Amino acid sequence: MQPTLSVQNLSIEYQARRGRVQAIRNVSFDVDKGEALALIGESGSGKTTLGLGIVQLLPGTAKITQGTAVYHRNGKTFDTLKLKGKALREFRWKECAMVFQSALNSLNPVLRIADQFADTSKAHGYVQGRALEERARQLLAFVRLDPERVWKAFPHELSGGMRQRILIALGLLLEPQLLILDEPTTALDILTQRNIMDVLKELRQRLEFSLIFISHDLSLAAELADRVATVYAGKIVETADVVALFKEPTHPYTIGLINAVPTLRGAQEDLTSIPGSPPDLIELPTGCKFHPRCPLADARCQATEPELEEIKFGHQVACWNWQSAREALGKIKTGYVTRDA
Ligand SMILES: Nc1ncnc2c1ncn2[C@@H]1O[C@H](COP(=O)(O)OP(=O)(O)OP(=O)(O)O)[C@@H](O)[C@H]1O
Ligand SMILES: [Mg+2]
Repeated sequence: MQPTLSVQNLSIEYQARRGRVQAIRNVSFDVDKGEALALIGESGSGKTTLGLGIVQLLPGTAKITQGTAVYHRNGKTFDTLKLKGKALREFRWKECAMVFQSALNSLNPVLRIADQFADTSKAHGYVQGRALEERARQLLAFVRLDPERVWKAFPHELSGGMRQRILIALGLLLEPQLLILDEPTTALDILTQRNIMDVLKELRQRLEFSLIFISHDLSLAAELADRVATVYAGKIVETADVVALFKEPTHPYTIGLINAVPTLRGAQEDLTSIPGSPPDLIELPTGCKFHPRCPLADARCQATEPELEEIKFGHQVACWNWQSAREALGKIKTGYVTRDA
């Protein structure tokens, strides 16, 4: 079966005053039908850029320098990066919807929720009137909002968590096959975050869309994703099935991320953070971009950047020293993975 989305050798740069920011560097991955892929990485690693690239919403200073993003549905296949005009507009809502990181402010403040749904529907030639209201109310119930309460409300009358759920419902209105969620819970308090995660899990079971879930929070990825890709300095450095990634993390960066996650049971002293900070994407380090922060770095790591290699079926790592990494970097807490292993 063809994947819903297949990104191949994608590179994206920004033109900044200081020079070219290499935000995405030769990234390839597939998202299968119904699959949830989590993209995990520190701030500035390029996660949002990747999402914006796929839906062609990058700012004017950005340039896709190479690559393809081939989308597939019911026998139709096209490169989303080449879409223009009407085809692009249709792709954005009917095939692929993205809920942005700063989404809490992206509802139109002067429109009631009912009108936000009507506008979106109208702009894309989707159902109107009763049929629309029925569909919208069903989606609102799916995201655990009381349709009676929110239908006639203005955005400012609703809490951040409610607005976020409205945006998710709106994103699903035209029945897209692929949903991209960029840090959907970051601005929210912990209980609201919990609630949105539960909503997302339920929605996936009900509607069976594919999902790209962007987050810096590994524990959220563990809950929702089937597969995880860790992104460092614009490149995927490890990807595996979610259970394998938490049981057998292999790239020193992934191991560092996991060791930096607090657990309820773990003692505070057990927490280690990754030393140093992410690199300047204008003047990238030589060799492996993680080497200045990596306890295992040697001369080869300084000289040559490793490519992803398959170390087990479905588990790929870009590290010269992957064979010794897990042992060398020691204790890895996986206690918070909530799925059945
Ligand atoms: N418009 C822009 N012009 C120049 N550089 C940019 C622009 N937008 C982003 N960048 C740079 O590109 C890199 C990747 O940014 P991006 O927002 O994709 O990261 P991110 O992983 O989403 O981070 P965060 O977790 O903070 O959201 C960063 O170094 C950022 O500074
Ligand atoms: Mg981002």
